Amino acid sequence: MKAINLFLMSSIIMEVTCRKKLVGYWGDNSSGSEKELKYYCDLDIYDTIILMQLSQNDHAVNKDGLPSLNFANHCNNNPLLTEDYNYNLYKRCPLIEDHIRHCQRKGIKMLLNVGGPGSQYIGWNSKKHAYDDAFLWWNLFFGGDESPKIRTFGSVRLDGLNLHLVASRKDYVIDFIENMRFLMTKRNATKQYVLTVSPDCYTLDIRAAFIYDAITIATNSFDAFFVDFAHQNCYLSSKDFVSYFNKWTSLLRGKQPDLYLTLSGSDQGSQRNFIQPQDVQEALRKNDVISQIKGITLNDVGDDSLNLVRANKRYSYYIRMLLDDPKFDVLSITTTTTTTTTTRAPKKSNGGGRSSGGGGLRVINRNSNFYYPGKGTRNGASHLVMFMSLMAIVASLLLL
Ligand SMILES: *[C@@H]1O[C@H](CO)[C@@H](O)[C@H](O)[C@H]1NC(C)=O
Ligand SMILES: *[C@@H]1O[C@H](CO)[C@@H](O)[C@H](O)[C@H]1NC(C)=O
Repeated sequence: MKAINLFLMSSIIMEVTCRKKLVGYWGDNSSGSEKELKYYCDLDIYDTIILMQLSQNDHAVNKDGLPSLNFANHCNNNPLLTEDYNYNLYKRCPLIEDHIRHCQRKGIKMLLNVGGPGSQYIGWNSKKHAYDDAFLWWNLFFGGDESPKIRTFGSVRLDGLNLHLVASRKDYVIDFIENMRFLMTKRNATKQYVLTVSPDCYTLDIRAAFIYDAITIATNSFDAFFVDFAHQNCYLSSKDFVSYFNKWTSLLRGKQPDLYLTLSGSDQGSQRNFIQPQDVQEALRKNDVISQIKGITLNDVGDDSLNLVRANKRYSYYIRMLLDDPKFDVLSITTTTTTTTTTRAPKKSNGGGRSSGGGGLRVINRNSNFYYPGKGTRNGASHLVMFMSLMAIVASLLLL
């Protein structure tokens, strides 16, 4: 009895703290048949969804230095235009707002992507400029309440920001990161926010030429690195994958951020270097890659939906299974044997959604106002896990 109880408690803890996460990009309709956001949340397979995209800061056609947003045709009726706000490329998106609320209730973390494919120049020309943008975006999308009428997603507060700078200068990126992190941790303790980054697997080598030296200096300011391992030179099953993977793990060793692998969701359209599930499995098991990552990010949810790998099951289904059990027999899924495996679909908590702790990224809280490179608090996080485990053991002893 005692043993069973202990076992149950510790598997709940395992579920909350250790289960690998699945993340997906949504919003740019790169597949050409992307459905509305709610559809992907209701697949109950994603822990986090990254919304594409904030495509330019301080766009000249927008009043007040507002950023440009692009959600393909998901947000075309822009109320801010009709109200004569003159925010041509900035948007108010009530439908997406409703869907985000729905997804967050299920415990799915919703992040805003800054940059990414198709984005324009994003950059800052002074420290003040970078600080001001962080404060502006904090009010438009996150915890700030200074511009309630023009918030893109109304009263919804997104869970975090993903920096995905593809056309940028490195100048003042650190200042932006610094103030955004400050606002996220200091301004509002009622909600936890994450700051993440999406570098290319290859950029570590050319960082001097681009903004990634800024990002690596600020490594400890991020909660997660979604590293794109679909690049020609270092995709998951390429011969140089392991050496690039090792570079990323050594950058992050002993530091804050979790490492995620970003993979193409299909081999259609602009997607590059799609890896079949059995090859993903091989790559994850080789060199124990699986134990060094927090999860996998799919680019993107629409491509994944079109990609029925075998037995009418999406690519994401196989990836989710591999994250839960790297020994999962990928080839065993055939049209006649699907019933034996469907019971392994992601678990839901009793309330019908995932518990908030299991819903996405690990969140850090810092005591200092600004980040200090090199001062990791990973120990703090593992102390928390140890504390939770101890509490569970005490609780299960008391229950008997
Ligand atoms: C996605 O792209 C297709 C093809 O261009 C288009 O017909 C459809 O309206 C787009 N949907 C959204 C939501 O952008
Ligand atoms: C924090 O968030 C709450 C609502 O969640 C809001 O009412 C409050 O004004 C926010 N505080 C700051 C300092 O942004």
